Amino acid sequence: MTIHQDIVWHPHQIGLKEREAQQVHKGCVLWFTGLSGSGKSTLADALEQTLYQYSTLHAPIRTYLLDGDNLRHGLCHDLGFSEQDRHENIRRVGEVAKLMVDAGLIVLTAFISPYQQDRQQVRERFAQGRFIEIFVDTPLALCEARDPKGLYQKARRGEIKQFSGIDSPYEPPTAPEIHLDGSLAINELTQQILAYLQQQQIYR
Ligand code: ADX
Repeated sequence: MTIHQDIVWHPHQIGLKEREAQQVHKGCVLWFTGLSGSGKSTLADALEQTLYQYSTLHAPIRTYLLDGDNLRHGLCHDLGFSEQDRHENIRRVGEVAKLMVDAGLIVLTAFISPYQQDRQQVRERFAQGRFIEIFVDTPLALCEARDPKGLYQKARRGEIKQFSGIDSPYEPPTAPEIHLDGSLAINELTQQILAYLQQQQIYR
């Protein structure tokens, strides 16, 4: 990354430390990665709902869900699915997530993010423990059987090119913080993530 030499970082008096002192949870990113149809978005949505309910009963847990399909309608609408565009997609999402984590939120991101190096570069933008990689490990055959948007069918017919898992690579995480069996029920997977967050004292 090139940073202009005449641009100097301005330190602000109110930072993450001050914000966290006023809330019951830490700022962090839950980075869901997996094939299309693996369950990332559904799971992130379910988890966010659970945290929202917790907020209603206890104390506020501020969250925000950044979703691949949705961001490609706005911030990333100029990007396609070439390797280069996917790098840029993930870089932008990483930067937005970083700002939101600095604002004290628990940010959930649901992007295929197929390249190990892209995910690693995002990880390196965060302090230790604030980037939590969640691998939704669902076999391609199951994603294809689910095919919620009919995209695998189109990819197999050659109507969509560079489709992840078909004619574009997906590099599985080697050491994710959470490795989920994506064939299990969403409720079960949500509980597994919550157990990790509690164990890591992400919220109290
Ligand atoms: S990423 O590879 O850059 O991380 P992202 O998560 O933003 O991808 O977008 C993936 C979503 O775009 C998929 O869930 C699917 O609905 C849609 N999509 C459309 N074309 C493709 C394609 N060629 N490869 C993967 N997903 C695609």
